[in-house]
Amino acid sequence: MFVNREKELQLLEESYRMFLEGHSKGVLVYGFRKVGKTRLIEEFLKKKLGIIIDLSAARTITLLKRIFIERLSQFDEKIELTLSGEPLEDLRNILLLPQKIAYKIRKKMIIALDEFHVMIEKVSSKIARKLGMKKEKVISDILWIIRNVINSSPDIFWIFISSIGWEKLQEYISRKYGGALVGILDLLRVDPLSLRDSIKLAKALVKNNTEIAEEIARISGGIPRIIEILARRYNTTYEKISLLAINAIHDGDFDEVFDNMIRAVAEISRRDYDILIQALKAVAESNKTTDDVAKALGTSRDLAYAVLEELHRLGLLEKKKMKKRVFYQIKYPLLGEWLRLRIEPKKPWSTLLVSALGITAESYMRELLAEAINKTIIIYDDARGTFLYGTADKFILNIIKVYSKKETERIFKPIKNADIIAEAKDGSLLVFEVKTKVKEIMPMEIDQLVKAVNFLRSKGKNAYGILVLLGPATVSPATIARATKENIIILSKDAVKLLAKKLKFPHW
Ligand SMILES: Nc1ncnc2c1ncn2[C@@H]1O[C@H](COP(=O)(O)OP(=O)(O)OP(=O)(O)O)[C@@H](O)[C@H]1O
Ligand SMILES: [Mg+2]
Repeated sequence: MFVNREKELQLLEESYRMFLEGHSKGVLVYGFRKVGKTRLIEEFLKKKLGIIIDLSAARTITLLKRIFIERLSQFDEKIELTLSGEPLEDLRNILLLPQKIAYKIRKKMIIALDEFHVMIEKVSSKIARKLGMKKEKVISDILWIIRNVINSSPDIFWIFISSIGWEKLQEYISRKYGGALVGILDLLRVDPLSLRDSIKLAKALVKNNTEIAEEIARISGGIPRIIEILARRYNTTYEKISLLAINAIHDGDFDEVFDNMIRAVAEISRRDYDILIQALKAVAESNKTTDDVAKALGTSRDLAYAVLEELHRLGLLEKKKMKKRVFYQIKYPLLGEWLRLRIEPKKPWSTLLVSALGITAESYMRELLAEAINKTIIIYDDARGTFLYGTADKFILNIIKVYSKKETERIFKPIKNADIIAEAKDGSLLVFEVKTKVKEIMPMEIDQLVKAVNFLRSKGKNAYGILVLLGPATVSPATIARATKENIIILSKDAVKLLAKKLKFPHW
């Protein structure tokens, strides 16, 4: 069953006709996830010489080559391409393979590159890392190569398809990357189905039950994939339609769709899956402004803003301005309900922060200590040991230097490394070991720190050990006893929070 899309097919035909006359190069197809982009192109390709090449796994040049050769083998079984190792040159040669084949068989062909943004984002990251270049620069280079390939392949009608948000796609065309793709491809946005067409599709799937089909169509927001899932459920459960969608979400019928959707976005985003999902969930739970989300997640406004903007660019959030304030909204039908019902706040935001900022607990502590240089800060423990677990009455921080990672490694070369060393005003060394683990802290971990401290003492230094807890782990009484005996101070998460507060530093 395939409904409508007449307008879209017409536009494609038109563009293709122009191509045959030498006036068009191809089309950029975009639109919501699961709206029917790939299916539309499949339909367009019927009775034409052309293929869809799925690039959603094209994360490296090698994979790209493999995917191209595999898909193109139906036209030519003996494709040969030796990679030179020069990534941009290799990319160009891979993308030129279709033209080579078309030339060989003397036919014009349609090549649709599905989810082509994965290739751009992933391959550029790899190349940037390998050559020590800025990712933006590499993306720009890749886009110019694509332009060059399009212009050098007179026998190929190119279709670029992507599910990523228009805001992001637009960057490929815009000045941000040097405007390589400006004016080279026709644009085709695929919208959700109209209500009429949604009903038509739903009706076909629920054996012509009009009433049910209308309800399903209404809830689906015109997304064919959602219509399919709801219809399939109805056909097995015959549930009341008001319950159908919620039960479907609850039972995980949509997990595959929504989970994949967010994973796909996370894959090309700098943020990790959990961060994105928690921010989305916050929005779904009626935290609509940046401040609301920051508050709900207990994070800074800056971080919340960065994540929300990214979700907007990647197409999962909608932005609305009202009275000069910006409101975010889940753009996708049923995704809000899915987030509310299926996603628990599994990890505390502080742990998420690690991946969000790419900051490890250790470098957070390092930066916090750097902030304390030339200041005197005292933290007193209370009777319950809230701050120091009773390992000391007070902790005095009065440092003049934090050793760099390299220096720290050099100092500890012969033994196991400690995380951070700071030099106190009186010349003694503070050795910090930062723990983020979830399991209980054991006495053995105190012993390791003692070893590091003793090593420094054997070199004639005055040294002290401090164990910093940033994770959710508890400390066993035996560990506290061992620490007290060995003069090791344990700083609790609350102590670090207090320290951050005193230093006006963002808290962990
Ligand atoms: N016009 C249509 N009529 C009937 N079914 C459709 C139509 N368009 C899409 N579908 C169905 O909806 C589902 C999703 O379609 P498709 O995979 O083409 O979407 P997409 O936009 O490419 O999704 P993605 O964002 O995952 O790339 C498919 O199962 C497809 O068969
Ligand atoms: Mg698709």
